[in-house]
Amino acid sequence: MDQADLASVLRCPRCRRASLSLQRAGWICVGCNAGYPVLGDIPWLFADPQSTLAQWRERLQFLLLSIDREVRTLRAELAGSITALTRQRLELLATAQEDHARRLTRLLAPLDLAATHTGYETHLALRTRLPSDQGLTNYYVNLHRDWAWGNAENDASVALIRSAAGDHTHWASTLVLGAGSGRLAYDVHMQCAPRLTVAVDFNPLLLFVARDVTRGRSLELYEFPIAPRRLADHAVLRSLVAPQPVRAGFHIVAADVLRAPFATEAFDTVVTPWLIDIVSEDFASFAARVNALLRPGGSWINFGSLAFSQGARALRLSFEETLEIIRRTGFGQPAIVEQSIPYMCSPGSRHARLETVVAWCTRKEDGAPTAPAEGTLPEWLVMSDRPVPQTEDFKVQAVATRIHAFLMALIDGRRSIQDMARMLVEQRLMSEEEAESAVRRFLIRMSEDSRKSGV
Ligand SMILES: C[S@@+](CC[C@H](N)C(=O)[O-])C[C@H]1O[C@@H](n2cnc3c(N)ncnc32)[C@H](O)[C@@H]1O
Repeated sequence: MDQADLASVLRCPRCRRASLSLQRAGWICVGCNAGYPVLGDIPWLFADPQSTLAQWRERLQFLLLSIDREVRTLRAELAGSITALTRQRLELLATAQEDHARRLTRLLAPLDLAATHTGYETHLALRTRLPSDQGLTNYYVNLHRDWAWGNAENDASVALIRSAAGDHTHWASTLVLGAGSGRLAYDVHMQCAPRLTVAVDFNPLLLFVARDVTRGRSLELYEFPIAPRRLADHAVLRSLVAPQPVRAGFHIVAADVLRAPFATEAFDTVVTPWLIDIVSEDFASFAARVNALLRPGGSWINFGSLAFSQGARALRLSFEETLEIIRRTGFGQPAIVEQSIPYMCSPGSRHARLETVVAWCTRKEDGAPTAPAEGTLPEWLVMSDRPVPQTEDFKVQAVATRIHAFLMALIDGRRSIQDMARMLVEQRLMSEEEAESAVRRFLIRMSEDSRKSGV
């Protein structure tokens, strides 16, 4: 019954036409026959499920290798001459990081880590973070905020979106895009009584936490606060737990929100918490995407800060431009609430924020004038035999990478900054005037980077 409810809103992310049916092997498209696995009880509905799985698996491996290096660094420092208190702190961190790695490995077991063998340096070179700013632990702190620090922040968030929604919203079938570890989706499901709530994200770490906690399990994971209050706060093992198990009708789906595996007009409400300014797509296209998911008259509830900081300058929108785009993409006059709320206030940290967030609720009045583009990757990235375009950005990066590689190769334990600068000038990579100070700046950065923690 529960799965049938979910099936009623799903659509194949590959052919984008037919519905999906749950079989023993996973979700299968009734049109194109594409198959999608269920990983750790969560439907894995990416257009290319195996390649997406391999990418998250690589990120997990990179994370574990980074933790391992961190532990080795801590152990090496422990062997030096240090005070008793420093020893206590480093021991705490080393033990916690080792245990942290074991816990993450267990939680993410469905990614099948044994299937990858990439080395640490290759991960660094390829920056195994896709999209490049979305790693497994990017929003790690959110899961402690969601399920461990108490209710103040979560209550403020759900109260704010309920106040923006007023009594206009039909929550009947609700989609939460970029749901993270799921607290807001859970609170909406428990407090606003939709029949069906689907929480979507593409980060399996957050989704597996959401799955366990919303089912009523308690999960223990470390927090490493950025400004620990006391020595013991440098690594805190916290219990993540929901106020009560979620009621029926709540589903978690792993998918890309830019290729959301749902039927057109499947939902009465779409919620986008802290999402619209971090997706790798311009806001107008994303708004058209939300529009397509809503039935006519359905409501879009957005919540978060509006910190558009990616892409062309013209796309780094102001509040006013954002509102204009909402109206241009088929939505009515939004109800808007702005409020300052606490944000990421860990009890173990001296760091805490106050964010003046905005929540809006707007109804779909028309279809969007242009349908959202299909797919997010250009053809030359998908098709291995197409030429890779030599864009201006690539040209600049190629020169920068050449200089970087050249300088790194010059470090042999004997050459001085002057020697290296001379060779750069000989190779015509830099002028005589700039070479020496450029090499110094480069080496300062490299030595600073190597002192930073890699985790
Ligand atoms: C800023 S976090 C907000 C998380 C959660 N809504 C909250 O308030 O704690 C953005 C979330 O969007 C997810 N996300 C970003 N791009 C996505 C995409 N293309 N598809 C699915 N999820 C995405 C991230 O994994 C992350 O959980």
